[in-house]
Amino acid sequence: MAGTRPNYMKIKAVMEALEQRGAECVLVHTGQHYDYAMNELFFKELRIRRPDQHLGVGSGTHAEQTGRAMLAFDPIVAELRPDIVVVDGDDNSTLACALVATKAGQFVAHVEAGPRSGDWSMPEEVNRVAVDSISDVLLAPSEDAFANLRAEGYRQDKMHLVGNVSLDTLLANLDRARARPVLDSLGVPRGGFALVTLHRPSNVDSHDTLGGLLRALAELAQELPVVFPVHPRTRAKMVQDLPHGVLAVDPLGYLDFVALQDAAAVVLTDSGGVQAETTMLGVPCLTLRENTEWPVTITKGTNQLVGRDPLRIMAAARKLIECPPPPRRPALWDGRASQRVAEVLLSGHGL
Ligand code: UD1
Ligand code: UDP
Repeated sequence: MAGTRPNYMKIKAVMEALEQRGAECVLVHTGQHYDYAMNELFFKELRIRRPDQHLGVGSGTHAEQTGRAMLAFDPIVAELRPDIVVVDGDDNSTLACALVATKAGQFVAHVEAGPRSGDWSMPEEVNRVAVDSISDVLLAPSEDAFANLRAEGYRQDKMHLVGNVSLDTLLANLDRARARPVLDSLGVPRGGFALVTLHRPSNVDSHDTLGGLLRALAELAQELPVVFPVHPRTRAKMVQDLPHGVLAVDPLGYLDFVALQDAAAVVLTDSGGVQAETTMLGVPCLTLRENTEWPVTITKGTNQLVGRDPLRIMAAARKLIECPPPPRRPALWDGRASQRVAEVLLSGHGL
């Protein structure tokens, strides 16, 4: 199942690997994300088939989203009685489907189990801990995520270190992304611009915090062009004028966004997926948060945690642009994570 932008890349890789091995997959889309640019565009670009079931959940409070997804997913599980329900990531759709499936007595596999930010005010942290605790198989994307699961006391035979499945999709589509003319159409030079994404409630829901971050972008834009594809949550909160020199655009398709990450001098983000993708691409990344569930991108990658203070952000950006960190990749981020997922699920651990 999937319901939001960062999980389309994951289901693409996992479903393909399962189907290559002869498994029959039913694709359920909760509909948590629904704008063309947050949804259908990805299905087209990544050539993901139309979902078999669409739950039409849409936006709302956490309770509304989770509740609607549970109500709509319940009869589907009851009718299909699948051998495995595969849930991915850490959003409200993931939690809802995992809860329904577990309570229906189904076997639940969690792809991307184990990342922890340690920040209980982050909705995804609640979802991660809850989903891991009710899943039958935990498929960890990195050594640190695996270590978190071990520290939480899960049974050894439940946990598998498989690597990061969304990066399988990144590697498979990198040539297509590099062929896109997006740098020319935006008028930014290869290696000479900053790319920004912001959507965490802790960064964008308060006008003061968002205002401070936008001021930091304005400062940065004095030194190099700043491209800022704006998430709909963030767009809804941006009452103030955008800083001069910041090129704010609608959310981009996957191929254009990967092309921009690949060509950026530096990426500034609060996204989980973007922290991992920049490490994979060897591009310097500044994470504008106080914590991360992807510390492996710092210890074994190109990411740096800088928080939200505009002065600190600027100083770190200058330093990274002048002296970029060497590219390196965490273990098992090799484009074969989804194959390992399929092996685990179809070779007796799952079934
Ligand atoms: C959700 C996930 C988050 C993930 C992010 C990826 C939860 C708790 N959060 O956050 O983990 O990192 O997706 O992008 O599940 N909206 C639109 N069009 C859309 C989708 C959303 O306009 O297609 C607007 C609506 O005003 C909505 C707001 O964005 O209220 C937030 O959407 P929501 O799905 O609740 O959370 P995200 O911030 O997108
Ligand atoms: N992404 C995209 N277009 C954009 C911004 C992001 O295609 O304008 C992709 C990005 O490459 C990554 C995923 O969306 O694969 C990350 O999603 P997001 O930041 O929304 O969620 P998170 O990873 O924080 O949960």
